[in-house]
Amino acid sequence: MSTKKRSPLLKQGPRQPANLHSINVTVNGRKYEDSIESRLLLVHYIRDVLRLTGTHVGCDTSNCGACTIVFNGRAVKSCTMFAVQADGAKIETIEGLAKDGQLHPLQKAFWENHGLQCGFCTPGMIMQAYWLLKENPEPSEEQIRWGIAGNLCRCTGYQNIVKSIKAAAAEMR
Ligand code: FES
Ligand code: FES
Repeated sequence: MSTKKRSPLLKQGPRQPANLHSINVTVNGRKYEDSIESRLLLVHYIRDVLRLTGTHVGCDTSNCGACTIVFNGRAVKSCTMFAVQADGAKIETIEGLAKDGQLHPLQKAFWENHGLQCGFCTPGMIMQAYWLLKENPEPSEEQIRWGIAGNLCRCTGYQNIVKSIKAAAAEMR
């Protein structure tokens, strides 16, 4: 009688706990300490563990920029990093921009200049623009377009996004 080989996975029985790592991160000024699996992507840590769901996931190819956050002062696509890489980091997400119930000038400018339609790309677009204006407070239109080149919008045609960033830059100077 032939014996069917069990797959190595079945031999292990119930799923074993994966490697856990302890991380400390500061997000929007608040400190968090968590034990996470090594394979957890930073974007999923932000959304599913911290429940900061303003950071979106729009692709699985690192192309769309919907997951953009500011990480230690630089705009990054949070789907391209593991959460363990954020140990000790300072992170800013869209939830941290409004202060004391007042919209950040970028949020206000996007609202006033119709810089969004469905809004799916908007948190990532605004975080990218937030970093861009910190680096270059007076960008030309061309510099704005280059600055947001890694963020895709499927609705607006970009005209009003560029207009919004220009308006916010003027307001913030
Ligand atoms: Fe699309 Fe990160 S989810 S680039
Ligand atoms: Fe819909 Fe940009 S507003 S994807």
